Amino acid sequence: MKSIKDLQVAEKRVIVRCDFNVPLDKNGNILDDFRIKQSLPTISYLLQKKAKVILISHLGRPKIGFLAKADKKRYSLAQVAERLAYLLNKEVLFVRDCQGRKVKEAIDKMKGGEVVLLENLRFYKGEEADDEKFAKSLASLGDIYINDAFSVCHREHASIVSLPKLLPSAAGFSLEKEVKILLDVIKKPKRPLVVIIGGKKLNTKIAVIKKLLEISDHLLLGGQIANAILSGKGIVVGRFLEQGELAKEVKAIQLTNPKLHLPVDAIVGLSNLDKGYIHKVAVGKVRSEEEIYDIGPETIRIFSDIINSGKTVLWNGPLGYVEDQRFVNGSFSIADVIIRSGVFSVVGGGDTSAFLAKYGLRERFSHVSTGGGAMLEFLVKETLPGIEALEQVK
Ligand code: 3PG
Repeated sequence: MKSIKDLQVAEKRVIVRCDFNVPLDKNGNILDDFRIKQSLPTISYLLQKKAKVILISHLGRPKIGFLAKADKKRYSLAQVAERLAYLLNKEVLFVRDCQGRKVKEAIDKMKGGEVVLLENLRFYKGEEADDEKFAKSLASLGDIYINDAFSVCHREHASIVSLPKLLPSAAGFSLEKEVKILLDVIKKPKRPLVVIIGGKKLNTKIAVIKKLLEISDHLLLGGQIANAILSGKGIVVGRFLEQGELAKEVKAIQLTNPKLHLPVDAIVGLSNLDKGYIHKVAVGKVRSEEEIYDIGPETIRIFSDIINSGKTVLWNGPLGYVEDQRFVNGSFSIADVIIRSGVFSVVGGGDTSAFLAKYGLRERFSHVSTGGGAMLEFLVKETLPGIEALEQVK
């Protein structure tokens, strides 16, 4: 994979695929600019080299067609342009489209050392459909393509897999760093390697569990993935529902694998949490009308001892229902142990990153991946469609 440093960029029109898919509140305001900040080294480098920097990104999953009016406002990248201008301390021209005459005119007027941000790529069907025409229209805007969006490299979308084949292409600094750190964790970690997986999205995690059991020394599970495995083995975990097709795969995971560590106790409540019925219980004693909302103190103790014995920790997915203050203790305690242990720590996943940021802990980790789904898929396949596309270019 070529690096941005391998290309002559001065006075060239350089298209940079960023991932400005930032979390928004219900009014559409940016909740966390972490991903915008991760793009700064690449943008600053290009500006310093007097390139004409053309930024492209998606934001959210906007509806297209006659239902799209409200989404056009909510998912506009206009406010990302504002935040970026503030972070760069430099004017960022925002163009309300990503193809067509207005875009061409704006780019024609650019001088080296200037930056424009184009509107959300997903306002066009061609992006997600990986449409050739759409990719060509994007390619016509630039001389060089840089991918700096690790967190979207698992998507076979036009700006990720087709665009790099149409222009001289390379990886930006953020993408290079993500790939290097994650490959090191997979291939040559300082051992023992302790991996912690929690969170909600089961389907993205089952394949990862199998691979992580191979490469890790200890695999600690919490959240829905732990519930799914316990439930697959006939242990009552309350109202947790097995997820159809996944149930078979879950059953294939060997509970007796000595590397695998599941919760031994849990904080449970009724599904209607308002009733204030919350208590600690041993796993195996959870009643069918209850739900598990966090790992319990004995599990925290066992997990902490394992983390303290490790040299590298990789974590994706909170261990409880951290959206509710009453169930943050498990994830908070584990974060605290990781930080104090001084291990090399890599964390990923939008929910985990947001949780750590909320408690001011994110900067205390050695590396925070911008990727959620992308990081998990990379751990399994050791590459991603967007990375493969970069590797195939001239
Ligand atoms: C992400 O947030 O994981 C990436 O930006 C990809 O977004 P997507 O899941 O909507 O494709």
